[in-house]
Amino acid sequence: MSLPKPEHELSTGARPVGVTDEQAAAQNVQRMFDTIAPTYDISNHTLSAGIDRYWWFRAARAFRTTLQRPESVILDLCCGTGDMTLALLKHRPKNPGTPSQTALSSETGSIPPGQPAPILAVDFSHQMLSRGAQKFRPHPIIPIEADALHLPIASNSIDLVTSAFGFRNLANYEEGLAELFRVLRPGGQIGILDCNQPDGLVGALYNLYFKKVLPRVGGLISGQSAAYSYLPASVERFPRPPRMLQLIRSAGFNSATWTGYTLGTAGLYQATKP
Ligand SMILES: C[S@@+](CC[C@H](N)C(=O)[O-])C[C@H]1O[C@@H](n2cnc3c(N)ncnc32)[C@H](O)[C@@H]1O
Repeated sequence: MSLPKPEHELSTGARPVGVTDEQAAAQNVQRMFDTIAPTYDISNHTLSAGIDRYWWFRAARAFRTTLQRPESVILDLCCGTGDMTLALLKHRPKNPGTPSQTALSSETGSIPPGQPAPILAVDFSHQMLSRGAQKFRPHPIIPIEADALHLPIASNSIDLVTSAFGFRNLANYEEGLAELFRVLRPGGQIGILDCNQPDGLVGALYNLYFKKVLPRVGGLISGQSAAYSYLPASVERFPRPPRMLQLIRSAGFNSATWTGYTLGTAGLYQATKP
């Protein structure tokens, strides 16, 4: 007789408290990010003591070879207020034209030779994305309001999909990975940066901070303590690296790896579509 699986191994997607089905989970997550959007950046930087910037920088640097090619089509999924997208932008070749010219020509499907393709930045929270869109305005970045599980993007069209602290919130991880696989070109890569709950002493300290300190401080800054209780619960529920790597491989990806950041409290999944 086999032992029952731990809860985090059974879970296939985010489930905020009191929610049992996927559609309600997605609506709940969307509403929650809409609500915390005005204070998201300040809460994030405060609660992570600024380490979030280092994590975005490190994740973007891992893909610099792809980012440096002007023709690479990059999608930043669950871009929120856009800081990961801006970290990716730092590695893009400088754009000799104006952003609006570039965006316009990319809408017609042709990017003038030598011009870098604009980064596509997707999120389903209108409030988060509109804050991101303000930061994107002077840059070749196109904000797109859409659900990660149903992307309005052609199959086999993207060279790199990144997602920072967003993938964990999807209502169905297998479907999320299948959608990423669909939009990527053969040889295209994923870079999923997300929180992780480490084991041992670091894990115990992490739990103390995440479960006791973070909901109080996050609640004080945003006035939304429920959202900051959801955060540790969602990390606890998110598959640990060995399980997540299995899911990535089962979705059809090759060369799946996980690199732990800052004592394993976060980490970057990388994989390639064959
Ligand atoms: C924790 S924020 C991360 C934002 C940003 N990437 C960052 O690193 O700061 C998670 C984002 O994922 C978005 N998100 C969650 N589920 C989504 C889905 N199904 N489709 C699109 N966006 C989603 C939320 O709206 C939110 O903006």
